[in-house]
Amino acid sequence: MGISKMTEGIYKLSTNMESILFEGVWEIPHGVSLNSYVVKGEKTALIDGFCGWDGVPETFFSMLDQMDVSLDSLDYIVINHVEPDHSGWIENIKTFKKDITILCTRAAEKMLGAFYEGDMTIQTVKDGDVFDLGQGKSLAFYCTPNVHWPDTMVTFEAQSGTLFTCDAFGSFGSVKGDGFDDDLTEEAIEFYEKEAVRYYSNILATFSNFVERAIEKCEKLPYQIIAPGHGIAWRQNPDKIINDYKRYAAYQTEVDKKKITLLWGSMYGMTARGVAFIEKEFEKYDVELASYEIPETSWGTALASVWESSAVILAMPTYEYKMFPPMAAVLEELGKKKVQNRLLFRIGSYGWSGGAEKELREILDRYQMNWQKLDSVEFNGAPNQDAFDAIGKSIKVLISQLEEQ
Ligand code: FEO
Repeated sequence: MGISKMTEGIYKLSTNMESILFEGVWEIPHGVSLNSYVVKGEKTALIDGFCGWDGVPETFFSMLDQMDVSLDSLDYIVINHVEPDHSGWIENIKTFKKDITILCTRAAEKMLGAFYEGDMTIQTVKDGDVFDLGQGKSLAFYCTPNVHWPDTMVTFEAQSGTLFTCDAFGSFGSVKGDGFDDDLTEEAIEFYEKEAVRYYSNILATFSNFVERAIEKCEKLPYQIIAPGHGIAWRQNPDKIINDYKRYAAYQTEVDKKKITLLWGSMYGMTARGVAFIEKEFEKYDVELASYEIPETSWGTALASVWESSAVILAMPTYEYKMFPPMAAVLEELGKKKVQNRLLFRIGSYGWSGGAEKELREILDRYQMNWQKLDSVEFNGAPNQDAFDAIGKSIKVLISQLEEQ
């Protein structure tokens, strides 16, 4: 775990989680950081809390020493969001700091009782409430429901202009060093940008309309620093992550990039021959094509790529009268995340009956995805020359429609 001074009286505490599935579902090949923050006035507040602490009181006391914070002054834990990656150390802290008060929304109060045992002193806060910590430090609370759960809020410290945003403006990717944007190379910032797309599409995508409302609310605050619960903190260019998030939220319904994602799966290599042809065809065109085999590629990676693609090519066979099952699972997830308004082209092999195409239409309809679909090219067994010709024509049409957008 790393402790770093972010600005006068404010510290960032980060730990990296690796070799886990985030939320038990999402692959994180580059890890994720869990960030907590300490705001030190006359009284001290800990904002969000998990941080990889081992639960041993002496470890915690040593952390306080590093920040020159006395246990007596630690009066508040601000829970911006109850999901355990932001609240996981409540029970341990309560064992040696019984008089600590939790500040959270009313919705969070109900959840805390469900997630944690024992008595807790909870003080609920409302939108716009301000809490004075003394020595010029104050905390103001702004509700940002459904970014990520209904309980969520952000906390603003006015003296430093620090906005503690919890899940909003976060990213995957382990944090090295202090984890501030002003310490990082352009290459490193690009890395976190990619990890932010993956994080956004996996964790927040469903709630994009709420994210847009939260951004509007945050933009009205005179922030100088954006301090999220995951990823790096933005001290030098906080507007960058705000603007990136505006774009990510908009991607739910409209993508301004000419990128195509090809998701494909094959049982015995027949559909894969069509995929090889597609990949070769794309060498003729100056369009970005990202190709992922399913199920070898995780849902999270497929979703991140589709999130920032304006067109999707699906290649999968029929399997027992239905769609190749792992592809159906990925498409269901795209539907649940409300990925809308993409251009779509599909190819696929069948043996004795079709079925994949019917299930594809059912999924698109069920989730009201409004994908604009070109005629699919299905082939019995292996694709023949007629099938390759039809695929080539459809790709040409797909690209011309993409260019017109
Ligand atoms: Fe980072 Fe919704 O938890």
